Amino acid sequence: MAGSFDVVVIGGGPGGYVAALRAAQLGAKTAVVEKDRVGGTCLVRGCIPTKALLQSSELYSLAKTGAPFGLVADKIGFDWPAAQKRKSGVVDQLVKGVEGLFKAGGVTLVRGSASLGGNGVVDVSGDRLQAKDIIIATGSAIARIPLKGAEHTIDSDQILELKEMPARLAVIGGGVVGMEFAAMFAALGSKVTVFEMLPQILPMVDADLVAVYSKHLAGIGGEIHTNAKVEEVVKGKGGLQVRFSSGGEGGSFDADQVLLAVGRVPYTQGLEAEKAGVKLERGRVVVDEHLHTSGDGVWAIGDVIGGIMLAHVASYEGLCAIDNIVGHANRTPDYHAAPNCVYTEPEIAHVGVGEKEAKEKGLDVKIGKFPFVASGRALTLGQSEGFVKVISDASSGKLLGAHIVGPRATDLIAEATLAIQNGLTLEQVDLTIHAHPTLPESLMEAALAAQGRAIHIPNRRPASSTSPPAPHKVGRPGPPPYKVGRPGPRPHRVGRPAGRMGRCTL
Ligand code: NAI
Repeated sequence: MAGSFDVVVIGGGPGGYVAALRAAQLGAKTAVVEKDRVGGTCLVRGCIPTKALLQSSELYSLAKTGAPFGLVADKIGFDWPAAQKRKSGVVDQLVKGVEGLFKAGGVTLVRGSASLGGNGVVDVSGDRLQAKDIIIATGSAIARIPLKGAEHTIDSDQILELKEMPARLAVIGGGVVGMEFAAMFAALGSKVTVFEMLPQILPMVDADLVAVYSKHLAGIGGEIHTNAKVEEVVKGKGGLQVRFSSGGEGGSFDADQVLLAVGRVPYTQGLEAEKAGVKLERGRVVVDEHLHTSGDGVWAIGDVIGGIMLAHVASYEGLCAIDNIVGHANRTPDYHAAPNCVYTEPEIAHVGVGEKEAKEKGLDVKIGKFPFVASGRALTLGQSEGFVKVISDASSGKLLGAHIVGPRATDLIAEATLAIQNGLTLEQVDLTIHAHPTLPESLMEAALAAQGRAIHIPNRRPASSTSPPAPHKVGRPGPPPYKVGRPGPRPHRVGRPAGRMGRCTL
């Protein structure tokens, strides 16, 4: 199919398809070129299928531990092929959904492999498209390392298609991919052992959050070896053997399957970027602060530009690029409030500045922590592992970071993200009425704790301070927290009938 377009997007993942839909919405004649199913890694082989399977493993764990909740179920088993079928159904539905959105939005879907020809030309398996602007959104591919015996390992695509559950699973790499599969298979009863060459798994997560996950995994029989570099995978009669070195010593572990999850790399294979004057650097497409490449009228977004390789960041960049292309804006992506979510059990999510980072940068911060064990909602769910931690600027009170490990952390992070994105203070968070009983109350309490005025946990005061925390300053400049439409100032819960929230655990 030949044709002329205002915008041609190469790649139909969460970066590309979102950009295309917005471009068409703004009146641009738009095409997406995709060589596989639309939806990209996220929808077809990544976020969505893993989360569908994790829902199965979570249900299984809940059922196994359901007796105290009154659940009576004999012979609880797990049907791996059935879980696979459901997972594929979810993926199919979402792929069809994106195709439907293209049709409804007037986006042309061109199937095939695209390469750049220069001067706005995009060649697709013999056909030629002409574009005023091109967006490269080709994503990333699984990274390979020169590991001896790597041919005996499986990658994150293959593990999703396993025909049967491995009794013993070794995971090489303690990153997000490795830890999500470790959590899933350990919950399903596999003996899971993780090897990470750095001193900590999930290196981008604060250590106190990682400790909660590590303890949970150990509790269900999983093992984590840090500072352990896998040197070789050997195939023997009884299965596979992972050989690793740790602190100058060697060790080995026997497994039925070995997952190699050591990162992803930008994908530009067959793109012929140089023909359009697009520069690559260590495999990634180089862009300026407006997401424009060195090629005329060629832009790039998502994993292919490196940086934060996450689906939601790719979508955000897609919208930003379209504002610049179709709306002639001059937008620069702002990543300071880009959330990270790890779908382990318990879940981990964080946004903004971390505790370690704050220390390294010498920032003057106030930190507040609230444990889920003090949350009524978490206790009713039977999921009270973990905590919410907030990090704020000591002088302005602005929320700089939020770090959550615990039930639905990946949903809870949204409120903190909104607050950080919009420069809200701890006070603005804690003066917001939070529904009770809910998990988000824990963010409010962590914000209160950072100011020494938590209600549902004892407050820790700095050793140097003997004075109580200052009351909220009603009427200070900025949004008046209590005065809006209410008769007279009303102090924080003072004077309320005793009982209710005051007495119960949150
Ligand atoms: P990663 O780069 O996050 O972690 C790989 C780990 O493997 C590193 O910690 C590294 O030190 C370790 N490693 C490398 N060689 C090793 C060896 N020989 N022995 C032991 N350890 C070794 O890569 P991962 O987990 O594959 O994730 C890839 C990308 O996908 C990341 O950008 C991630 O953010 C993204 N992703 C995001 C998800 C989410 O947002 N929930 C889910 C899955 C992936």
